[in-house]
Amino acid sequence: MSLSRRSFFRTAGAAGVGLLSSDFISARGREAFAAIQSSAVAGYRPQGAAQARRAIIKISSNENAYGPGPAALDAARSLLGPAAGRYPTNVPDLAAAIAKHFGVEPQNVLVGTGSGEVIEAAVMAFTSPTRPLVSALPTWESPARTARRIKASVKDIRVDADLKLDLAATTAAAKGAGLVFFCNPNNPTGTVHSKAAVTKFVEGVLAASPQTTILLDEAYYDFVVDPSYATGVPLAMKYPRVIVTRTFSKVHGMAGLRVGYAIGHPDTLKAIEPHKTGDLNVVSAAAAAASIQDTAHVAKQRDQIRTTLEATVRTFKEAGCRVSDSQANFILADVKRPAKEFREACEKMGVMIGRDFPPLTNWARISIGTSDEMRVANDVFKKVLAAPQTTASR
Ligand SMILES: Cc1ncc(COP(=O)(O)O)c(C=O)c1O
Repeated sequence: MSLSRRSFFRTAGAAGVGLLSSDFISARGREAFAAIQSSAVAGYRPQGAAQARRAIIKISSNENAYGPGPAALDAARSLLGPAAGRYPTNVPDLAAAIAKHFGVEPQNVLVGTGSGEVIEAAVMAFTSPTRPLVSALPTWESPARTARRIKASVKDIRVDADLKLDLAATTAAAKGAGLVFFCNPNNPTGTVHSKAAVTKFVEGVLAASPQTTILLDEAYYDFVVDPSYATGVPLAMKYPRVIVTRTFSKVHGMAGLRVGYAIGHPDTLKAIEPHKTGDLNVVSAAAAAASIQDTAHVAKQRDQIRTTLEATVRTFKEAGCRVSDSQANFILADVKRPAKEFREACEKMGVMIGRDFPPLTNWARISIGTSDEMRVANDVFKKVLAAPQTTASR
């Protein structure tokens, strides 16, 4: 375990039944921790033990601040008895629950300790020094970090003027690539491509480069309100070279329980599986299986977070800032000064926002917390945006 992860767990404290609805399970701040481990983002410090003890509003990682739903918590608690003394023979039930939810077979599902584990394994399975990873700039950093670690080459394709993944440039770069990481909605821009655009993109890449695998990351799927958007699962069922990943860390509020999965062709999943290192535990599996069936709770969470997101977007727009068309549980706003400067000013006022996402140096990512947290945070944003800048904007 790395130093930063160790200190995270120390900060979180010893887990017990009483902590099951706490920040420990929702693992607030973990995404930022994961990104910072090997990132060269200058001047960014995720919260340490001292900060965690302060009443700070942590909206620096894309989590669901409300935590797991009641059905998930009940299922988790039910396993914290003698059943927890057994090896996790009931874990396959989760693949069955996920398969049922999507109308696919359990062999089309590969469960991991977070979707991050499955994505990392896919990078290891399909990229190499001669088979590049194609990724976006900016996007979620982990796949490119994994590729660089195994000495695979990485082609970073800058997002377009609308902060959307550049389909034409990505298609061109995909020729001969091992894996295309296609984050839809994209973190940190929150932008999406429509079902029609994704289908055309996938079919174009497969026609030009049949040996390339395309990973459609749908971590933020549940938050999307754009009616032209749809899941890529039917594409993953049709084309063996396409996989979709999802996670329980976002709308399900279970980032600390570490559950995610891929959906795809059994042979493709079999190629990924040996590169996985995690071992799902019974508590997480039971909670996830309960949560995926609790569609009413998920819909309620989505609506609540969307309402709070729209209020946060208004704060920035009223201050004259451009805001990306976010279809996720975070926003990206042009704060008209280095994001680092904005972040540090917010932090001094007790609000911790997202890391830098080069090359969008003037854009700040703000994850959506609870409505109470965001009321306080929006007041802080207004004050910071109204204060004179210390650095000239670009
Ligand atoms: C786009 C995207 N994919 C995957 C993940 C990994 O999530 P997890 O490993 O918690 O499932 C994240 C985490 O923030 C993300 O932003």
